Amino acid sequence: MENNRGQWGSNFGFLMAAIGSAVGLGNIWGFPYKMGKSGGFAFLLIYLILVVFVGVVVMLGELALGRKTGKGTMGAYLAFSKKYAFVGFMGVASGFLILSFYSVLGGMVMRYMIAFLLQLLGLDGFAGQGGGFFGFLLYDYGGMLFFYALFMIITVYIVMGGIEKGIEKFSAVAMPALFFILLFVIVYVAFQPGAADGYAFMFKPDFSVFTNPEIGFFGVLKAAAGQMFFSLSLGMGCMITYGSYLSKKENLQKNALIIPFADTMVALMAGMAVMPACAAFGVDYGRGPGLLFVSMQTVFANMGSFGNFIGFLFYFLVFIAAVTSSISLLEVSTTFEIDRTMAKGKEPNRKKITLIYALAIFVVGLPVCLDALGSGGAAVKAPFEILGIEAGGAGFAMWNDCWLDLYDMISEGVLMPLGALVMSVLIGWVWNTKTIKEECEESGHAFTGFKMFEVCYKFIVPVVLVIVLYAQIMDFFG
Ligand code: TRP
Repeated sequence: MENNRGQWGSNFGFLMAAIGSAVGLGNIWGFPYKMGKSGGFAFLLIYLILVVFVGVVVMLGELALGRKTGKGTMGAYLAFSKKYAFVGFMGVASGFLILSFYSVLGGMVMRYMIAFLLQLLGLDGFAGQGGGFFGFLLYDYGGMLFFYALFMIITVYIVMGGIEKGIEKFSAVAMPALFFILLFVIVYVAFQPGAADGYAFMFKPDFSVFTNPEIGFFGVLKAAAGQMFFSLSLGMGCMITYGSYLSKKENLQKNALIIPFADTMVALMAGMAVMPACAAFGVDYGRGPGLLFVSMQTVFANMGSFGNFIGFLFYFLVFIAAVTSSISLLEVSTTFEIDRTMAKGKEPNRKKITLIYALAIFVVGLPVCLDALGSGGAAVKAPFEILGIEAGGAGFAMWNDCWLDLYDMISEGVLMPLGALVMSVLIGWVWNTKTIKEECEESGHAFTGFKMFEVCYKFIVPVVLVIVLYAQIMDFFG
């Protein structure tokens, strides 16, 4: 069985792929902008606590579930009972939806990368639009489609290569490269006058956001918890899928510590590149999602002669981060279909499966690509325009603002926390945390801190997830 499904070539390769999945737009874009909107240090502190008591624990649960059953998102649940297949289905559906909008964003990142490359070569990369490039690009449907398709093709190509020869091979080169480029950008930014305010925003204790009636403690908790699940690729079985290709020899507990640690470090590093850069050039970091495109373009434009080069490097590293994540999202679908085919006793064709799923995802993502992110009057109407109502309103994005937010609400907002909640109850109360312990000990390493692990899985994880779900539903109806 194991042979035609494939396996990671080495633990290092697995780690690079898993960290690659975790490190993505969520770290480099979501983390700084959510921190910018949710009180800086207060957000950071809650985020770190959640990573330790929820992230690490759920990561271990997912990896162990995958390795124990040798199956991806859906197959792992089926291995226990048909009753729980719906949880796996929610996971596959989330991955499907997330990849559709993720690739649109990935395409936009590529477009900025190429724009800065053209600038570097002395050409006008911004098509005569200068700082208004973002507003222009959203309505440039041909360009949007082209880069969306290009990003998807790159993703498909890597996944077609398989676990070891595709995903692992790419990640093992791309991830170290990303790390060093990010380090370089951080150092360069540190020398910009005025950068210090950015560090102060991140690291100076300040809890004033808790008394802000629009956000408050629960607002920060919800934002941090949602961000944590997304950033660690948890809650929809991505790590079940990656774990299912891991050898029984490897130390799961250690891996489940390294991945969140590296992911958090890169999120912090991204903050240390973006926040001080914004501070140095007087760009507001509380601007929300526009941060990655509008604000950062302004930053690089003001950096002087070196700005185009740093801009290119920055978007190149965001591109790497996005691809190593999108391949993990597509792999969820591919593995799902491979397992399904094998369960019927047939030989799966990875290339064909990957291509068909990617095409379907591409079609589903078309409205996201063509609605100008809800700016109005675009080729495809945004949900609020179709419904003839007011767009979602101030503050965080609302589900009806644009197709991206609708897909995001369904997947990241509802299916993922719900799936993660059911999974934590199953592992904590139904299948028993001992199942996880036994799977970890298959490698011959004794399990450390089992009592703590059990308390987290049985109580802390479900409580946090209930809060997240409740807050999402209130947002939806509120
Ligand atoms: N973690 C990635 C990021 O931070 C995105 C991602 C990849 C993801 N796979 C996932 C999110 C699975 C949720 C579930 O950008």
